Order: sequence, then structure tokens, then C-alpha cells
Amino acid sequence: MSCATLAPPAAHEVHVWQWNLDVDDAELDRYRAMLSREEQERAGHFCFERHRRRFIAGRGQLRRLLGGYLELAPQALTLAYGPEGKPFCASQPNSPNGPDSPASWTLHFNLSHSENTAALAISNGLEIGIDIERIRPFDESMPVEVFAKREREQFAALSDAQRQTIFFETWARKEACLKALGTGFVLPPDHFEFDLSLRGDTTPRYVAGDANEAAHWRVRALTTIAGCAGAVAARHAAWSLVIKN
Ligand SMILES: CC(C)(COP(=O)(O)OP(=O)(O)OC[C@H]1O[C@@H](n2cnc3c(N)ncnc32)[C@H](O)[C@@H]1OP(=O)(O)O)[C@@H](O)C(=O)NCCC(=O)NCCS
Repeated sequence: MSCATLAPPAAHEVHVWQWNLDVDDAELDRYRAMLSREEQERAGHFCFERHRRRFIAGRGQLRRLLGGYLELAPQALTLAYGPEGKPFCASQPNSPNGPDSPASWTLHFNLSHSENTAALAISNGLEIGIDIERIRPFDESMPVEVFAKREREQFAALSDAQRQTIFFETWARKEACLKALGTGFVLPPDHFEFDLSLRGDTTPRYVAGDANEAAHWRVRALTTIAGCAGAVAARHAAWSLVIKN
């Protein structure tokens, strides 16, 4: 169940793939066989069967797609982890000029899942973060503390109908940025601050209160996944999304 060879993203492109994590038993077995021993052990630690199955389908398809880009069998890939747990691909493309020459591109990726949907961003040399959030009913118990003071004021002025979507869109923007940094929520969600009146592709207003640093970032809205808010982020100005499926 290897993937056909996939052409690498151009230097200014981020490829985005999505898939359904709820698969039948036969497909699950195929995905399970692609996982490393460590991933299989991790799968064994989930309390709920549904979560175990979704983890296996997430990592399996992740390996399948990465294998397509690297022309490697899914199980032959080596994944490694940054200090705050961000996975990266220790296997990288071969150089067309032999093992002692630099490779022609560098694969970066980031994965997100929400309920039964997974989304994967793949780039060439750009450190990226992706987040998808199933849009659920917004209620007052939801953590508006994710917002910085100015964001909270903007949020309070919204109608109930606007709040639901804007809460999850803003959450996705922030989490995509924190995942691009590789810290996740080791940093607080208000580390990245946005103008909530701007929808779609944007730039943060502040990063840790710094507008100059914020100007280096671009956050692209991911609008192609039904029922989900989504964002892809990178600390780089000129890049665009290519939706692959
Ligand atoms: C990263 C984080 C925001 C993800 O939250 P989540 O609700 O699971 O969100 P998503 O589904 O969008 O992302 C999960 C995926 O992000 C990736 N990921 C994990 N840690 C990451 C990090 N620090 N930075 C970027 N991506 C990360 C993984 O691929 C993970 O999926 P997988 O484990 O199935 O492969 C959250 O786990 C976090 O804040 N982690 C960092 C702090 C931490 O707990 N560190 C302890 C480990 S050292």
C-alpha cells in the first residue's frame, strides 16, 4: 500500500492533504503494518479504541504520503522529535548526484487532526504548522483566555452567530503558529495576537507583543475541509497553499 511517487513542493509552496481517520478493519491493518515499533506501542496506550484507530490511521497515512515524496516504503521512514515533541522527518530526499552531495530539497511537515479528519502540510525547506478544528457550538464555558486583551474586546463585540466560527478560526491560527515554532502550548495562546476583524489569509498583529516580528509571519486560512476551521502558518512572507485532495 505504498504511495505513488509524489513531486516535491516548489520552494514557495505548501502542499496540503486531508483524509478520514475512520477506516475499516482491513485498511487499519495495512496502516498498522506501516508504523514503527514505538508508534505501535503508543497506539497500545490509548484508552479508547476509537482514538487508537484514529492514531494508527493518522500515522499510517502520514508515513504513506511522506514515503511517496521520499520514494521510500512507509515503514522505512525515520521520524524524530524536537524538544517539545514536534515530529520531523529524519529521512530526507536523496541527492540526484549521489549520497555525498546535498539533496535538492528538504522535506518539512506538520500534521493535525480533529475528530475523524486529519490534515497534513508538506513544505520544501519551510518550517510550518497546521491546525484544524471541528467547528462546534460555542458556549460560554469555552476558554476565551486564549485571546489577548484586544482580541477579547473584539470577540465580545461579535454576535453569537459570528462567535462560533471566529473562535475556532482564531484558535486554529494561533495553534498553527505555535506548531510552526514547534513549542505548541508550552507558550501561551496569546503569544500570537490577531485582528479578529480580518478573515482569511492574514499576518499576526503581534508576536509576544512585537509587531516587527509579527510582520515576518503569514497565516493562510484552510477553508477546504467541511465543518472545520483551519490554518497553516510559517515565519516567511512569500508562500502559498496547494490543496492536493
Ligand atoms: C502540539 C499541540 C498543540 C497539539 O495539540 P493537538 O490538540 O493534539 O492538536 P493537533 O491534532 O493539531 O496536532 C497533533 C499533531 O501535531 C504534531 N505535534 C506534536 N507536538 C508538536 C509540537 N510541539 N509542535 C508541532 N507539532 C506537534 C504531531 O504530529 C501530532 O499528531 P500525532 O502525534 O498523531 O502525530 C499540543 O500537543 C502541545 O501543546 N504540545 C506541546 C507541549 C507538550 O505537551 N510537550 C510534551 C511532549 S515533549
